[in-house]
Amino acid sequence: MSGATSPDTDVDVLREARRRRTFAVISHPDAGKSTLTEALALHAEVISEAGAVHGKAGRRGTVSDWMEMERARGISITSAALQFAYGDHVVNLVDTPGHADFSEDTYRVLSAVDAAVMLVDAAKGLEPQTLKLFQVCRYRRIPVITVINKWDRPGRDALELLDEIDRQIGLRPTPLTWPVGVAGDFRGVLQRTSGDFIRYTRTAGGSKRAPEEHLSSAEAREREGEAWEAAEEEHQLLEADGADHDQERFLAGDTTPVLFASAISNFGVAQLLDTLVSIAPPPSDTADAEGSLRALAEPFSAFVFKVQAGMDTAHRDRLAYARVVSGVFRRGMVATHAETGRPFPTKYAQAVFGRERTIVETAYPGDIVGLVNAGSLRVGSTIFESDPVRFPPITSFAPEHFATVRAVDSGRYKQFRRGIEQLDQEGVVQVLRSEMRGDQAPVLAAVGPMQFEVVEQRMGSEFNAPVRLERLGYSLARRTTPEHAVELNSLRDVEVLQRSDGDLLALFPDRWRAGAVERMHPHLVLETLVAGVG
Ligand code: G4P
Repeated sequence: MSGATSPDTDVDVLREARRRRTFAVISHPDAGKSTLTEALALHAEVISEAGAVHGKAGRRGTVSDWMEMERARGISITSAALQFAYGDHVVNLVDTPGHADFSEDTYRVLSAVDAAVMLVDAAKGLEPQTLKLFQVCRYRRIPVITVINKWDRPGRDALELLDEIDRQIGLRPTPLTWPVGVAGDFRGVLQRTSGDFIRYTRTAGGSKRAPEEHLSSAEAREREGEAWEAAEEEHQLLEADGADHDQERFLAGDTTPVLFASAISNFGVAQLLDTLVSIAPPPSDTADAEGSLRALAEPFSAFVFKVQAGMDTAHRDRLAYARVVSGVFRRGMVATHAETGRPFPTKYAQAVFGRERTIVETAYPGDIVGLVNAGSLRVGSTIFESDPVRFPPITSFAPEHFATVRAVDSGRYKQFRRGIEQLDQEGVVQVLRSEMRGDQAPVLAAVGPMQFEVVEQRMGSEFNAPVRLERLGYSLARRTTPEHAVELNSLRDVEVLQRSDGDLLALFPDRWRAGAVERMHPHLVLETLVAGVG
């Protein structure tokens, strides 16, 4: 494949990159993420009726056991990207799993986006998972747009919710719209830049795009009376407080623009899309492992942020999701896998969302490509067309749950090893090993205990090697060095194991024990891992 990029293509790539907005919705379970995703897709006319994306309204036929589990629990474990055109823009919505225990997966997804939409339930305000996910956004320097959802239902006071965002996460809210009508009586929003009223009209079941009417302030006052006056008054309070959008501060992560919505009625969804295309950042040059920037117009490169297998019995394969960093991806091109230097054919590139798969022919920076039969690719892998590059590894977050895993039937050891290795590469759990424990019983480390259930499920059904897990009494890990491993291992209640990325982790029962070891042996290296969770 030719690696040279002609000047014409440069312009093309830059133009395509500029039109793109790649983002994820983060929220505590039940805040309305699936509903909002469907509303966005509906708005962009990707689907004609709500219920078609995640299929809550009617899941289709063959699903794997893994899907059975997802269905039984009513949660979404799989994650992929939905691409749609909105005006002149191309929007990539990267889906994130909803359940708290899948947060590790969500954290990885956040390495592939340029912005996040933080969805807050108007009645509940900030919830634990919202806060944790927000910390990850801050760590990854991702600008956040806040959407206060479910305004159609009785909820908290709008100013009080803003106050909570300010106080609890130290992010200054700068509302772009302001609700007309208290929570539970959602009539529309005051658009703060123009001072106009956008009036929403409900449709039956919220299944079709909700019509909007734009009225001047005078017309709004006449129509909505006190509700409008209250909104105007609060808008002025915000203005006096300087709570207005400032693009630089938003991009720097100091402020968060706020919108009010009712995803279920499709209210506020158009405003969210308009906001995304007007203020969310497009893809930009990305730092590689050496710290130099890979420019958007350089030849094709991408990194894998998620690997998934066993998604669907009808497509029993392994998918690697890669985010395009630079250049143009063309299906069929032969890329190079940076870690092995081996060619990687891209004949089977797909876009995957929910149960749908379509073929991707071309992709530009910011786009997500699902690569099929990606046996050699793992989370953090780089692929490129020419001009070698390697992107930095994706941070693993601090595990808090540990268990040993063994094959129930020792005769199935080969299957057992293969399965554990694959789940490790997919990042379903972190796999830790030590000479003392041997390969027969490695230690699994997870951010949330539900990751263990996925391991049990998949080892049995997919790898035909049922396993037995035994929880260990550790709850905290610190990174150490080979020189200190022996000494740490000699301490009571402490054990050192090696993760597959090479890191040595010292496990402790709790933070008190870790603190005591630190105090009594100050020469030992015990680095805190990035805490995605509290
Ligand atoms: P999640 O993906 O963040 O977990 O949330 P999901 O969209 O599944 O929504 C959780 C519940 O909240 C659903 O109700 C959904 O209908 C409801 N919901 C979402 N957005 C809004 C909204 O704007 N207003 C109101 N009033 N409700 C909203 P459910 O009863 O749990 O499920 P379902 O039977 O309605 O699907």
